[in-house]
Amino acid sequence: MTSTDKHENYKTLLAQMEAVLKDEDNVISILSTISCMISQQFQSFFWVGFYIEDRGVLRVGPYQGTLGCLHIDFDRGVCGRAFRTGETQIVDDVHSDPEHIACDARTNSEIVVPVFGKDGSKYGVLDIDSTASATFDSVDRHYLEVLVQKFIQPFI
Ligand code: SME
Repeated sequence: MTSTDKHENYKTLLAQMEAVLKDEDNVISILSTISCMISQQFQSFFWVGFYIEDRGVLRVGPYQGTLGCLHIDFDRGVCGRAFRTGETQIVDDVHSDPEHIACDARTNSEIVVPVFGKDGSKYGVLDIDSTASATFDSVDRHYLEVLVQKFIQPFI
């Protein structure tokens, strides 16, 4: 996918989300719909979903894809690292990242975006795994961070 295609895909996605999520305020409905819409828009994204902090660990939330870990400790996984640092993590080759947790061997690259509440508290992460290597760059980071701030943060 060219960089222009990627921009266009994200612009389309955000416009559709705006229409679909208008008037929705239930967090589970919103997270489920966002997972589904991202997954449908990008064919190489084969796991798209959320891990949400609950009683000291990240627990799996709404997602699309094959079976994910049920919970992830803060000191484990790329998800744990994104949650701990509060910064988006991009991994070009998960096989060379010692912290990566392999739930499905088909994953080759990933991006994990932290999700914060209105008050700035840490809520969880958006995790996207791709079958292709080096799928994610600053364009993905930009649009996914915007998406999380715009469509999730006001409701948590
Ligand atoms: N991307 C994760 C693990 C895969 S999930 O359980 C789908 C990580 O290394 O944090």
